[in-house]
Amino acid sequence: MAKRVILAYSGGLDTSVIVRWLTDRGYEVVTYTADVGQGEELSEIPYKAKASGAVEAIVEDLKEEFAREYCLPTLRALALYEGKYPLTASLSRPLIAKKLVEHAQRLGADYIAHGSTGKGNDQVRFELSAWALNPDIEVLAPVREWEFRSREEEVEYALKHKIPVKATKEKPYSIDKNLWGISIECGPLEDPWTEPPEDAFEWTTSSEKAPDEPEYVEIEFEEGTPISINGQRYEKLSQLIMDLNLIAGKHGVGRIDMVENRLVGIKSREVYEAPGAIVLYEAYRDLLSLVLDRFTFHYFLTHIPHEYAKVVYEGLWFSPLRSALDAFNSSLAKYVNGKVRLKLYKGSVRVVGRQSPQSLYVEDLATYSEKDAFDHRAGASFTKVFGLPLKILGRVSKG
Ligand code: ARG
Repeated sequence: MAKRVILAYSGGLDTSVIVRWLTDRGYEVVTYTADVGQGEELSEIPYKAKASGAVEAIVEDLKEEFAREYCLPTLRALALYEGKYPLTASLSRPLIAKKLVEHAQRLGADYIAHGSTGKGNDQVRFELSAWALNPDIEVLAPVREWEFRSREEEVEYALKHKIPVKATKEKPYSIDKNLWGISIECGPLEDPWTEPPEDAFEWTTSSEKAPDEPEYVEIEFEEGTPISINGQRYEKLSQLIMDLNLIAGKHGVGRIDMVENRLVGIKSREVYEAPGAIVLYEAYRDLLSLVLDRFTFHYFLTHIPHEYAKVVYEGLWFSPLRSALDAFNSSLAKYVNGKVRLKLYKGSVRVVGRQSPQSLYVEDLATYSEKDAFDHRAGASFTKVFGLPLKILGRVSKG
């Protein structure tokens, strides 16, 4: 009996060649393609997969599951890898791996396969996620071991085996897309000194070409979930995020350019577009700071965003650590109710207003007007006691 394998399939050159390559080695290949909001037409996928040699092609819409179960917890953690990257590609891998494992089980397959290279992070995310869910699953990663050394060699193999390849001239970039954002690598971006050419970007307008008028956008949250844009309520979080991508992208918001530390030890230059995610991060952070007391907010900022980002980036999605961090963040998310008003203008996003039924902002205490209800005298004793350690230090060092 043929060995059956479920392959994470994008329909691009690499994964199409993989179908045939595995078939040649005695595997029966079932392809799996997820719609995670990459905005590509997927109706051709089954045809392409079968033309490349697949026995079956599965296509699933995972947009809402991706938005609710993966993007939302990451937003509630305000997780940015190395302080900048909202983890777009890192988030889709565990979800896809989970589906590969489930379908493998259903179809009696012992193997799953992916098209990641040996020097990226994605191999780690796919494999750690899969093993956490099924420690006995075997993982095949043909790109790590096959004979092709260039795209041209792959195209030659594809043509020889009548694998459908796009005739159009491809951009020189390696691109990964989902509704949380786009990551762009390779080509001219490999020189970290080179400014990303305009053709690297798909969702964001350059600041130069963005509208000359700012746009205000109001986002409402209910228990830590964004539920409306400018008063329009969304049943689907995935749709809210995709619409926000359009609104913010038009103003050039959400471009990120960084050199990041990959898991395999190298630094790589990465360019991202995440207009909707960046707007949501700004809004969530602002509301959180309004509704949390100082002790809790500071604890959160110190311990959560960086840790959570590392967990996601390093492929530990299906770990008790991630669930425990989620439990912490969900308990804080309950306080996150209200509205944030943001101003989008030529590449920037700024929060310009916020309100919440749970706001801890007390105007009578904050005001410098005659309404002021703060006990100024108490300030003297407070300062005296709070400053005592430094006063003593000053005395001792003075001798
Ligand atoms: N550096 C990013 C990450 O590790 C993006 C990876 C994108 N993957 C890709 N195949 N282009 O999360």
